[in-house]
Amino acid sequence: MHHKTIIEPFRIKSVEAIKFTTREDRVAALADAGHNVFRLHAEDVLIDLLTDSGTGAMSARQWGALMQGDESYAGSRSFYRFRDVVQELTGFEHIIPTHQGRAAERILFHTQVHEGQIVPNNNHFDTTRANIEIERAEARDLVIAEGRVPAAIHPFKGNIDLDALERLLVEDRDRGGTVVPLVMVTITNNSGGGQPVSLENLRGVRRLCDAYRKPFFLDACRFAENAYFIKLREEGQGHRPPREIAREVFRLADGCTMSAKKDGLANIGGFLAMNDGRWAEAARNLLILTEGFPTYGGLAGYDLEAIARGLEEVVEEPYLKYRIRSTAYLADKLIARGVPIIQPAGGHAIYLDARALLPHIPPARYPGIALANALYVEGGVRGVEIGTVMFGLRPDGTEVPPAMDLVRLAIPRRVYTQSHIDYVAEVVLAVAAAAAALGGYRIVSAPPVLRHFTAVFEPAA
Ligand code: F0G
Repeated sequence: MHHKTIIEPFRIKSVEAIKFTTREDRVAALADAGHNVFRLHAEDVLIDLLTDSGTGAMSARQWGALMQGDESYAGSRSFYRFRDVVQELTGFEHIIPTHQGRAAERILFHTQVHEGQIVPNNNHFDTTRANIEIERAEARDLVIAEGRVPAAIHPFKGNIDLDALERLLVEDRDRGGTVVPLVMVTITNNSGGGQPVSLENLRGVRRLCDAYRKPFFLDACRFAENAYFIKLREEGQGHRPPREIAREVFRLADGCTMSAKKDGLANIGGFLAMNDGRWAEAARNLLILTEGFPTYGGLAGYDLEAIARGLEEVVEEPYLKYRIRSTAYLADKLIARGVPIIQPAGGHAIYLDARALLPHIPPARYPGIALANALYVEGGVRGVEIGTVMFGLRPDGTEVPPAMDLVRLAIPRRVYTQSHIDYVAEVVLAVAAAAAALGGYRIVSAPPVLRHFTAVFEPAA
């Protein structure tokens, strides 16, 4: 087909009503929620772009697969179907289901990472970082320099800085190889703007991990979107099916953590996968303690069926073409009107640069919270701060602003139509036009880790 409009590659069989509220309703709801959009009742949100995690629409074939779920406690048929699909995709030998991505992280890090060690990554996501820090180890971000600058243009802004990684591995070698337990790369790089990592960069990580004898793990939540970016942007990759690129990427690594709530196209689930039998045994032992028997890992048999089918659908080219284009569509509208966002658009989200849009609000007064709250009040749109609240609190209790203060508008998979997105753009533009009038926030109360989820704020005078 040669028509230029890229359409949703599906039609809608079942719909869910969304609730319209007034500005006064939203001002009151936000105050009740302690000025933290995480604490809102979702019903009071019109367009929910808080996350792309677990919020996607399953296909008719996935819903059909649910009825095929085998709920046997041990050795369920659904587990074997899930295992075969994951093995075929990733090539890893040991496939360990978990209830979501962070459970896979916790099991991997709790069994393999020890106090004082350093885990490098392009950028750790919040739960990944927290699961390393709780082991009293350091989560070190080594994304390339362009990946820390919102306006810098680079086709693979998620790449890890291979020179910095090698310096760390040399230091590790000089200290007897005890400092770095494993190397991670997150595809796509969520905290850095949903930016992809190139095949070339991943091959470079593989070479370094071979040279310094380190296991290489992918945080593979958005592996299919990453594969499609490789197809679109990397030299010599344009002719390959995304599925084939994804299979090659997994085969560069020794294991992965995965949240099936993203590119598993499921509402819950995840897995930990690896080749090393001894690491897998340690992981399974902990899994039984906290998640469940190794053939279900905290999931129902029907969840395993939905994930298996989702992993097949997510690498289909018409889906990925629509997916990547629908995010870029929102970005194009905002860039055309001068709204500062991370460029180019990410795969699953666009990231508003709150620090640039609200230069009068210093990081310590949380420009990302100010912007997220304004989007909700203006139009019932819910995004999420990815900035000083999410990442600024160090384990020693001090606050150090990270490189960027962003508001992420994550697009759930197969959920919203183009007119929903047109509406979102209208709301963002209205808030941007009135940005100078927005004020900052102060924290009233917050827990010591992952504070962004539950913190209570008040407007700063
Ligand atoms: N790694 C990355 C890169 C993620 O984006 C997430 C979740 C996880 C790990 C953890 O997976 O939620 O299944 O436990 N990100 C969601 C988000 C929550 O909104 O970006 P999980």
